[in-house]
Amino acid sequence: MAPPICPQQPPCYVRKVIKSAIVPVAGYGTRLLPATKSQPKEMLPVARKPIVQYVVEELVANHVEQILFITGRSKGSIENHFDHDPELMRLLNAGNKQDLLDELKFEELQAHFFYTRQRFQKGLGDAVLCGENFAGEEPFVVALGDSILGLHGDSGTVARMAGLFESRHASCVIAVEEVPREETVHYGIVQVAGAEGDCARVVNVIEKPRPEQAPSNLAIAGRYVFSPLIFDMIRRVEPDPRGEIQLTDAIRLLCEEGRRVLALKLAPAEKRYDIGNFPSYFETFVEFALADPLYGERFREALERLLAKESAAHPAR
Ligand code: G1P
Repeated sequence: MAPPICPQQPPCYVRKVIKSAIVPVAGYGTRLLPATKSQPKEMLPVARKPIVQYVVEELVANHVEQILFITGRSKGSIENHFDHDPELMRLLNAGNKQDLLDELKFEELQAHFFYTRQRFQKGLGDAVLCGENFAGEEPFVVALGDSILGLHGDSGTVARMAGLFESRHASCVIAVEEVPREETVHYGIVQVAGAEGDCARVVNVIEKPRPEQAPSNLAIAGRYVFSPLIFDMIRRVEPDPRGEIQLTDAIRLLCEEGRRVLALKLAPAEKRYDIGNFPSYFETFVEFALADPLYGERFREALERLLAKESAAHPAR
């Protein structure tokens, strides 16, 4: 009998440490123009923080110690954001602005930051390949810089994925979430066999299939754990019709080679917030602003007032 995919829970979630993460942030963010013309989409604010800060804080809370950003042109502000700014510190110290100094505490995050550029926009697979020397012979996390996991970005998914990767001797673990059938065209979709609880073996993955071609409604949710084997697979991937090397195609090659690729479903409290397009960015901003411990209540009152005014002006809506 084949060994269970996820023998017992919680043992398959034993905390194991994967130290390195690659965060691709090189995309042009064209779906968010004009906001992203000269600033990275990953630096757009969600409530009080830029998106990428949530991603980095999540990785550090999940035991990641070094982060490589795969950047591109006009992404310099990401580097500045995680750098120390002595002038600003001096100014705030001189003004005795302790509350504002507290807002900069994230600069002390216990992580090392590295940056490299993807010189040509050749897709997510190619971006990850830029991190080959950084990862070396160790397993590593890939976290997409435009996806926040969990309200406040406080998801423990990556540590659970790392635990699963180690305990099941996997070559790859992918976080997945259920999406409505008609939305499969926006995601990498996995085909699984023998789901046990929230873990399942992945037997195939297809990038952005039409609903009628999608093998399931389980979408890749922007977090991956890989063995360095993935780099060889990426090198073997043929560019898609747009000339892009898809990471999803490299994962399919792992499946075809019989390597163990596992999917871990996000827990309900670990909803994924996608900042890649305006409708979902707006919704994410509002949800995070409402949950803000300092300003949430005032924002709720303002929103209610606005909505009441709207429905009085347009009763038929
Ligand atoms: C990328 C991946 C896709 C994944 C998605 C999650 O697509 O290629 O497989 O489901 O991120 O956000 P993108 O949104 O960059 O087009």
